[in-house]
Amino acid sequence: MKKYFFLLLILVLTSIYYFLRNPMGVNKNSSLISINKTEFGTLKNGTVVHKYTLENKIGTKVSIITYGGIITNLKTFNKLGELEDIVLGYSSLEEYIKENPYFGAIVGRYGNRISKGKFSISGKEYNLARNNGQNHLHGGNIGFDKVIWDATTQIDKNSASLILSYTSGDMEEGYPGNLETRVIYTLNNENSIEVLYEAITDKSTIINLTQHSYFNLSGNFSESILDHEVKINANAFLPVDETLIPTGEIVNVECTPFDFREFKRIGKDINLENEQLIIGNGYDHCWVLNDYGTMRFVAAAYHSRSGRFLEVYSDEPGMQFYSGNFLDGTLPRRDEGYYGNRSGFCFETQHYPNSPNNKEFPSVMLEPNDLYTSKTTFNFSIK
Ligand code: GLA
Repeated sequence: MKKYFFLLLILVLTSIYYFLRNPMGVNKNSSLISINKTEFGTLKNGTVVHKYTLENKIGTKVSIITYGGIITNLKTFNKLGELEDIVLGYSSLEEYIKENPYFGAIVGRYGNRISKGKFSISGKEYNLARNNGQNHLHGGNIGFDKVIWDATTQIDKNSASLILSYTSGDMEEGYPGNLETRVIYTLNNENSIEVLYEAITDKSTIINLTQHSYFNLSGNFSESILDHEVKINANAFLPVDETLIPTGEIVNVECTPFDFREFKRIGKDINLENEQLIIGNGYDHCWVLNDYGTMRFVAAAYHSRSGRFLEVYSDEPGMQFYSGNFLDGTLPRRDEGYYGNRSGFCFETQHYPNSPNNKEFPSVMLEPNDLYTSKTTFNFSIK
């Protein structure tokens, strides 16, 4: 009897010890894979923004904040064994709030542009914010990149997940339906970050979620990304008009600067006299990915000096490849100095821009009782 009492006492004391060491409920017990939670900042209304850092057994670390679901830091090793950040970001919450060109953010409800902010569902017209010239961009004035997400964590032997949830109310930013959204970031021991998006609605609506990290695999943000070699699994791309809305044509990439079917330096053709490159001020176009309908390889980037290699897999039909053309040396880096033109590039997996107004494009409709899912995986290695 006494023996059992002592066993029970030890059990209770051990639980108290672990609770005191880890009151947030975040699993830090495993030395192989871990999640660490800290405070990142406080909004004017008193809401505390948390930062979660997921680390795998290799030592790759990704930090995500509950404001905008933003990936603030992503640290991977280069071929010399140095751990460096490879995504653009700021060091404080204030900077993210002041002006953020979507660095690291979850973008929604509609990633990319909708012509004149208008679309119709069953004959009813909806009007969204025109926050990009005459067009709607990236969910409007307060899109998913600027809201506070609820967060929970889950940790297994080989993976650590941050589960973010946000419910966007009916007509928020002009979109119909209460939309319950979940974005799950998972870092695993295979050195991948998986982003899984899920949503349900109570009214017919449109949805197109994406992730807007700006990569610079060199780990040195004073360098441009023009020396990175990129490959995109796409035989075609979508030309745009002067407001960056797809014209509706689907153009073969062959014999154009948009051909990335084999690895090519981003800088190789970017300054060619090409109408589309002039309109985009570089690459800022949606590629029509091959083999839509399955999870497949969609793009890769390689930086030879650091040896860093990034591969992207997705089940989305398109990918906006943006070469950081609007970066103009005015946004502060985390270290010192400012982010220069083309110091980061984005691989935004998504449905095509302006799909609600183009019947030929894959549908972005979400109906009540249907589950929206979309998945993109970023894999990091050294070559
Ligand atoms: C997307 C758009 C770009 C630009 C950036 C954010 O990639 O396609 O035109 O708006 O987001 O600056």
